[in-house]
Amino acid sequence: MRRIVYSQQQIAARVRELGDEIAKTYPDGDLLVLGLLKGSFIFLSDLVRDIRRPLQIDFLVAASYGDATVSSGTVKLVYDPETELGGKHILLVEDIVDTGRTLNRLMDLLQARKPRSLEICALLHKHVAAELRYPTRFVGFDAPNEFLVGYGLDHAENFRHLPYIASLQ
Ligand code: IMP
Ligand code: MG
Repeated sequence: MRRIVYSQQQIAARVRELGDEIAKTYPDGDLLVLGLLKGSFIFLSDLVRDIRRPLQIDFLVAASYGDATVSSGTVKLVYDPETELGGKHILLVEDIVDTGRTLNRLMDLLQARKPRSLEICALLHKHVAAELRYPTRFVGFDAPNEFLVGYGLDHAENFRHLPYIASLQ
């Protein structure tokens, strides 16, 4: 059974707001929007078109081992951004924050490259992330603690293409 949690229209409206908020937050300096693949690919592509200021885009690919629906805590970088991070505002774009382990590991790694600033933009936040050591500066929706799919989010690589976000429960 699939229940729609956020419709295509709700997502579009919220992404526009986030884009405005982000543009206002960074009045000057180089901005690099760094998408965490694969989950953020649709969100990022909509979001950057709503950030009305110059920016650059690159991606990170992280792999975590273990079950598809349970975070294992071991995160490995499979693709490292080629773009220079030093001195730039870095906005790390993630689909959903669950335990926060993925972000902890990636933020540690990115912070070590001396960006001018480093912030997280997550489309969804389950607020069960007891382990996240970093603040989530931009959040699309405070999500229910259910397994969500669509708009980039998958279950065993399925459902990413759905234009809305649904719960699998
Ligand atoms: P964390 O490291 O536990 O915060 O896990 C975050 C990652 O787990 C996300 O980037 C997603 O890939 C995946 N994930 C967590 N919750 C969900 C969900 O409800 N639906 C789909 N993927 C999820
Ligand atoms: Mg992901």
